[in-house]
Amino acid sequence: MYFGVDYYPEHWDIDMIDEDLTRMKEMGVNIVRIGEFAWHLMEPKDGEYDFSFFDMVIKKAKENNIKVMFGTPTATFPAWLANEHQDILSEEIDGNKRIFGGRRQYCYTSSTYRDYSRKISKKLVTHYKDEETIISWQVDNEFGHERSDMCYCDKCHIDFQNFLKNKYQNIDELNEKYGTIFWGQTYNNFDEIPIPKTTITTHNPALRLDWSRYRSFTLNRYAIEQIDIVKANKGTHQQVTTNASGGFFNKYFDHDEQFKELDFASYDNYPVWGGLVEPMPPEEIAMTLDFIRGLKDDNFWIVEQLMGAQGHDVIGYLPRPNQAKMWAHQGMAHGCNSMIWFRWRGMTRGAEQFCFGIIDHDNTNGRKYREVQEFIKYMKPHEEIVNSKIKSDVAILYSYDNVWSWRIQKQSSTYNFNDELVKLYRPFYRKNLNIDVIPASRDISKYKVVLIPNLMIADTKLKARLDKFLEDGGRVVFTYRAGIRDTYNNINFKETIPCSLREMVGARVEEIESLGEGISAEVSYNNEKFKAKVWRDLLKVETANELVGYNDFYKDYSCATENEYKNGKVYYIGSSLDDKLMNLLSDRIIEGLNLDVIDSPENLEIYKRILNNKDYFFISNHSGEEIEFNGKIFNPYEIKVEKRLC
Ligand code: GLA
Ligand code: ZN
Repeated sequence: MYFGVDYYPEHWDIDMIDEDLTRMKEMGVNIVRIGEFAWHLMEPKDGEYDFSFFDMVIKKAKENNIKVMFGTPTATFPAWLANEHQDILSEEIDGNKRIFGGRRQYCYTSSTYRDYSRKISKKLVTHYKDEETIISWQVDNEFGHERSDMCYCDKCHIDFQNFLKNKYQNIDELNEKYGTIFWGQTYNNFDEIPIPKTTITTHNPALRLDWSRYRSFTLNRYAIEQIDIVKANKGTHQQVTTNASGGFFNKYFDHDEQFKELDFASYDNYPVWGGLVEPMPPEEIAMTLDFIRGLKDDNFWIVEQLMGAQGHDVIGYLPRPNQAKMWAHQGMAHGCNSMIWFRWRGMTRGAEQFCFGIIDHDNTNGRKYREVQEFIKYMKPHEEIVNSKIKSDVAILYSYDNVWSWRIQKQSSTYNFNDELVKLYRPFYRKNLNIDVIPASRDISKYKVVLIPNLMIADTKLKARLDKFLEDGGRVVFTYRAGIRDTYNNINFKETIPCSLREMVGARVEEIESLGEGISAEVSYNNEKFKAKVWRDLLKVETANELVGYNDFYKDYSCATENEYKNGKVYYIGSSLDDKLMNLLSDRIIEGLNLDVIDSPENLEIYKRILNNKDYFFISNHSGEEIEFNGKIFNPYEIKVEKRLC
């Protein structure tokens, strides 16, 4: 188990390194992450490589028994490279080049950039392949973050047309699938096809989905090329990872495709960032951790754990005493088995003066230093538990095609995929059940309950797996707009919604209504009234029973249904419902399954881990108030690993 800091020795007077490493060791550090933004230092001029600075840093780390995770520096290329090769720069939708000065502003399609990236990564990894101190490589930094997953340059345009040529037999097939007959957009050949830059009204939804897929293809092509170079040149004692930033469902790349290639997944866990006045709610942070664990279905590293307030031009919420420590604890509970905090010391120059670390600009050991020190001391004895495998009975499924389809046409002004996924995740999280957040392409046979938010594109393979799952007694929960589209992002024709899922749902959607800002419909469940927002499907039950009904002029329609199907049950929730109602529905959904539910007060998260058939409970108080539970008082942001709960 490793605990460390993101260290940027190149930012400071090199005479500070001995004292820095000593202070880190006293804090409990046994690893530092270095180098991910230091391309120029390692290649000051085209083809002139010099690793002497990091040779020195690694020697110092070795002397202090501190291991190293080294980042390949392709997220920030040198000025000389941009100056000599403008074609590496990515372009905004309006055609403006993203100039040198920020970071990540490279085009994934640029063969020049891919060439220079291959060279620096190969040189760097080969140089350190026998270096015992380096135990892992982080490839690049936060792929696709800060809108860097999008480029509208001419190279990408031509490459996109080739992508389509490889996908479609011929232009006729594309015209047919896209429905270009609409508005007379029929193409005579592929080089007439646009990329979705600014136009009047909007581009064809099938083209836009293929564009999203193309963006994912180019990013993952670049990422996997880099991963393969590292793998091919590294030492056998070295592992390969990359760090995912948050906001996964706002990215234009399929994380599963990329992370398959890695030894372990890494995450940058920032429960609050920038001008946010409040951190993410506990369940949303938990969901992100479960998403990362789901990528490799295994424990993972956090290589940037927040400790101080963060922001470029604007900063916001300052974590309260012990709150960031609690978030670190939550991370370990959900499967993080090594943690690196961002960053050792806050930088005084450059764009991130307000991305605070453990040590602030006064360079003293303050509250944050003590918090990390206490946390490492507290967590070390739990290494075995932290390394144990997490077993969940509940899974929530997502597919990037579906996520992108919702981004292309959100249909309701109040719709947000991440919020709707969390809405379905929350009631099961509130029961302190372990939940896996996984791609819809995965095997689901080990679960008891499968939750599927807003799955418009339901492919036949998933349908077959769900049928088998229901045969085996599983419970499936769909939410609104399920099954309406084909894999070309077109609406299914001559099929009543939810189309291929209708039989298992046991109900049909006869009408639909988008519920905009401030609009809600009243619904009833067991004679209690609740609100339905964002969207509503107006259901007619067939073999299913009505669970929730509408109270207004659409009272003859159902809002949520339950269907006994094969040996399982299928639930359809036709709107975005109040959390209180979602809690009640989740009680019904898990009825009789004997899941490991733990009732705890709101904001007291209890995460169960099992080691050698013994239970361990990671308890985190997410609130700034005392919480009483089973006769014990949990102080604000208090954390505990307990063997028993009472
Ligand atoms: C990200 C990046 C870091 C730094 C921090 C600031 O996660 O990976 O380089 O920008 O955010 O919070
Ligand atoms: Zn481009």
